[in-house]
Amino acid sequence: MRIEDIKTPAYVIDEKKLRENLEILKKVQDESGARILLAQKAYSIYQTYPLIAEYLFGATASGLYEAKLAHEEMHSKTYPEKKLENHVFEPAFEEEEMAELCDICDHIVFNSLNQLETHRKIWEPFVESGKVSVGLRINPEFSTQEEHEIYDPCSSGSRLGIRLVDMPETLPEGVEGIHFHTLCEQGFEPLEDTFRDVEKRFASYFSQIKWINLGGGHHITREGYNIEGLISLVKYIREKYSISVYLEPGEAIALDAGYLVTTVMDIVETERMPVLILDTSAACHMPDVLEMPYRPPLRDSEEAGEMKYTYRLSSRTCLAGDIIGDYSFSEEKKIGDRLYFEDMAIYSMVKNNTFNGMPLPDIDILHEDGEVEILKRFGYENFKTRL
Ligand SMILES: Cc1ncc(COP(=O)(O)O)c(C=O)c1O
Repeated sequence: MRIEDIKTPAYVIDEKKLRENLEILKKVQDESGARILLAQKAYSIYQTYPLIAEYLFGATASGLYEAKLAHEEMHSKTYPEKKLENHVFEPAFEEEEMAELCDICDHIVFNSLNQLETHRKIWEPFVESGKVSVGLRINPEFSTQEEHEIYDPCSSGSRLGIRLVDMPETLPEGVEGIHFHTLCEQGFEPLEDTFRDVEKRFASYFSQIKWINLGGGHHITREGYNIEGLISLVKYIREKYSISVYLEPGEAIALDAGYLVTTVMDIVETERMPVLILDTSAACHMPDVLEMPYRPPLRDSEEAGEMKYTYRLSSRTCLAGDIIGDYSFSEEKKIGDRLYFEDMAIYSMVKNNTFNGMPLPDIDILHEDGEVEILKRFGYENFKTRL
């Protein structure tokens, strides 16, 4: 099937672009010795994990379910001989979860000394046998952006990570690594600034650790990213401190590697501009558009007013604010026309919902030979079983 013939709405993963991103990340790994993990919170399309496993060092999870997914779909099935790693960080774990996580994970990162000690009796034997490595998430208290406060783990009052004042003088018995995650869609320079600050303020811990995890938020695969800078920083950390360096980007892995294809269902005239009613929804299928907020790129369109025909793009939900944005086109739009939203592989399928009983879009993959394969199709049952 060709992309023009697919059923809409559908997310379409672009396999070629995904591979291109992975090749860039592999170059960073090969040249710097960094260990790069897929942050599944951004992208969990496990049908492509075999491809990702060809390039990266493993995956990281935000909790038990993602950890199980990586265990089943990346570590057990594909390349068991490669010994890909499975990491997890969550602000708080349940006791039963901890036992299961110790079985399937290589690294477990705790958000507080209290959580570390609460679960010590479970993880300690796994650390002693060398099966699991345990780390602490620190809060560098070093904000590098003001744009998206909800995505800034260093914002005032943040619950994410242990501040220096709350750290013990020496790391608790069994702790082998430190982790921080502070960036969001950023270039290399904020990472370097953050690391240099951490290196000064948390200096005493560097001789006590085997690894450091620099988190995600690195837009390594975006054009213009200072890849050489990243490679030399990672090499510097590895050589100076003799530790392993992990990076766990989510977005960078599938950046610009997917589309949301939608069809115009109706056109409603208003006193401001005509509104296209689409078979997709910002609230249900691209919640980041409203949460971030941002205006998703749309193929063959410009800002409102720049081309002859301007429309507001909206949805068939009842939410008045379910508006994707205002766009202009060179041609008048008709019912039945298709539109392609770009950069829709990340934080979309992992976040969507069935508010209003909206059907979930199909998940398709555009293979490198131009053929589209349906990976998942959803129906009424998927709506009903969640309620
Ligand atoms: C702990 C942690 N690691 C990695 C990531 C991935 O970040 P991104 O998708 O922006 O690269 C996140 C995102 O919130 C995170 O919280």
